[in-house]
This record gives sequence, C-alpha cells and structure tokens, in this order.
Amino acid sequence: MSSRISGFYKLSVEERREIVTKERGLTEKELSYLSGEQAMSMELADAMIENVIGQIAIPVGIAANFKINGQDKFIPMATEEPSVVAAASNAARAAYSEGGFFTSLSGTIMRGQIQVLNIADPFAARAKIFEHKQEILDLCNEKDPTLVSFGGGAIDLEVHIIPTANHMMLVIHLIVDTKDAMGANAVNTMAEFVAPTIESITGGRVVCKIISNLADRRLARARAVFSAEAMGGKEVVENIVSAFEFADADPYRAATHNKGVMNGISAVVLASGNDTRAVEAGAHAYASVSGRYKSLTKWEITQDGNLSGSIELPMAVGIIGGATKTHPVAQAALKIMDISSAEELAGCIAAVGLAENAASLRALSAEGIQRGHMSLHARNLAVMAGADAADIDRIVAQAVQEKDLRYDRILEITQSIQRGE
Ligand code: MEV
Repeated sequence: MSSRISGFYKLSVEERREIVTKERGLTEKELSYLSGEQAMSMELADAMIENVIGQIAIPVGIAANFKINGQDKFIPMATEEPSVVAAASNAARAAYSEGGFFTSLSGTIMRGQIQVLNIADPFAARAKIFEHKQEILDLCNEKDPTLVSFGGGAIDLEVHIIPTANHMMLVIHLIVDTKDAMGANAVNTMAEFVAPTIESITGGRVVCKIISNLADRRLARARAVFSAEAMGGKEVVENIVSAFEFADADPYRAATHNKGVMNGISAVVLASGNDTRAVEAGAHAYASVSGRYKSLTKWEITQDGNLSGSIELPMAVGIIGGATKTHPVAQAALKIMDISSAEELAGCIAAVGLAENAASLRALSAEGIQRGHMSLHARNLAVMAGADAADIDRIVAQAVQEKDLRYDRILEITQSIQRGE
C-alpha cells in the first residue's frame, strides 16, 4: 500500500474510510466501532474503570504520508486538538521523498522499584541482596510464567543507595523484560511478591513497590531527513535549527517544544489504547536526565542542506494487555497501523513525535502557527455556533477572508446563512 495520498484531507469521511478499509481490510464491525455507531458497551466501560456513567468520544484521524523503516503506514491519531493530524501528515510528506523514518528500540525492559527503610548498614544490605539475586529473580518469574514462556521475565537486579532528607535509602530495581506488554501489571505484581523476601534478607522494612515510568531501558529512537524545499527553503531550515537550540537551552521554551512533540505521541498512544500518562511521565523525566529540562528532539542540517531530525525517549507501550486488547477501537488502530510487536509500535510513535515537532518548528520558523490554525479554529467555532455541516466550508471561507475569527462574527455569519441571506 501507499500512504502517500495527496489531498487525503480534501476527501469526505466516507472516502477516507473506504481507502483505509481497502488497504487494511477493516471489517464492518471495526468500521462501526470507529464511527461510534456501535459505541463501547456500557458493560465493557464499567469493567474498565469505576463508577461509570458514560463515555467521551475523541475524534480519530489518519495521518498520511508516513513511511517507517521502508513500510508505508497509516497512522491513527486520537486527539481533540485541531491541526495535530494535518501537521504530522505534512511533515511526513517532506520526509517521504527522502526515504521516510527509521526507528529502533533499545529493548522492552522496565524497572520495578522496591524501597527499603530502617537499614543501619545499607552497603552490607546491598551486598546481601546480590548474594540472593538468583533466588529473587526466580521468585519473580514464578509469579509470571506466561511472560517467561514468551521469552520475557525478570532478568537482573540493581541495588541503589539513595541519600534522602532523613535516611540512606536502599532501593532495589527489578529489571524485567516485558516483551509485548507495557509491563506495569507484571512488574508491580513481581515487586509486591518479593517484598517479604527482601525484608528477610535485609532486615529492613519495605514500603513502595512499583514500576518506574522513567523507562530508560526502553528508549525509542527515530530519525528522518526532511527535504529543505518541502520545508520552505534554506532560511526556514536554519530557523528550525535555531528554534531547536532555543528549546535545548531554555526550559520555558523546551516545555512548549516538547508539548508539541507529545501532541503527536499522545494521540497515537491513546488511539492504540495505551497509557498516555505513563508515556508522558517517561518523556518529561527523560528530558530532564541531564539535570536540566531539554528538547526531546535534535535538529541538524545535512551536507546537502536538508533538515535532519532525530528523537529519543522512553516508550512504554504494549500490544497485548489492558485497553490495547479490550478496547475495540484500539484493536482497529493496531490493525490500521499493521503493528505486530510493541517494538514496532514504539518506533511508529517516536516517528510521529518527530514529525509533529518538525511541523511545529516549521510553522514557528516561517509564518507562525496561527495562520495554519485559522481555518481549523474557524471550523470549530462554526460547529459551536450551530452551523449545519453543509454550510461549514462557506462560513470558514468567509471568516478567513475577513481575517475575523471572533466567535461573535462567526455566529453572525452562521445565522445570516441560516436565514438564507
Ligand atoms: C501547540 O499545541 C504546540 C506548539 O506550541 C508546539 C511548539 O511551540 O513547538 C505549536
């Protein structure tokens, strides 16, 4: 299949659904889950969280033009923010002609932390833990034979001694390969299960037993070259690199720069039924590992004058547990993306984060972001003003031409069209 569909945004919703169905073989049932005609059942919703009274719909759009590791992909993105899907598609188009995105993952390894208090001699306790390393790992693996049968499980231990305000605290890291699972359940279960053994080995008292979202042994990396011509020329490319240098040097700017990266990342994480907060926490913690909060992306200029971008961040996503398996739209999203492993999903998500950042920096380095937002913003306002779907394009065209995006003016235009004027 080719993801390079020019004018995808100009097609009707039905035409887009037909293209995706043709290429990815969606069933009638999957299409009706996606359209919301067949919403998630209240029984399923009630089984997912507590005190359920309903559900909230978020639009799912397809980012076009992505080529990732040589394979064309449609990328489903769930977001309430206008421009995000268009931005990813536009930047991906500028990378397509240069070969697209290339990705890798450092591993599927997560850390579980076990905090031990009341130890008089933490260095000796640390040594004792290592003497019992195999016993602790065996206990962990006993608790999750399924993960072990898939080639995963607890593989190593680290023991950290952390000076805190009041104590030298002993913190054990269970190093667990969670394979295609995000891993929070597996790791938390193991950490709780071995806590009494840790207490008897160290003579200390275990308090917290929980996964760390700073998944620094599960780093997704993506890179791409964006054609200078498609990005707007030499000056825009130079401005993009200086915008990156600004973000890398100034945490006030880095926060917004990385927010733009996460616009793309969280939208795919959400569409795939994964935990957006886990990935966000990991990303922002990783952006600060040097001691100062920095850009998650890097931007350079190639010898040919094109724009070269790369991204590296923790990507704790899975394809076999929780909502990734139970949510019918998440299942359809994985099928649309043609994902067969957590590793592949992590790479695609990193690529989208890089594309999203390229698009934001391009807009900031050229015309500013408001121009691109204008017609999308006007569309939202027209919907708020109660416009019929058939009138929206006309209302948007008039508001953009008048360069007047106040709600009052859009309401006036809408009402005048409804009166047949
Ligand atoms: C808006 O949601 C995201 C941007 O602010 C990101 C950025 O400034 O790089 C456009």
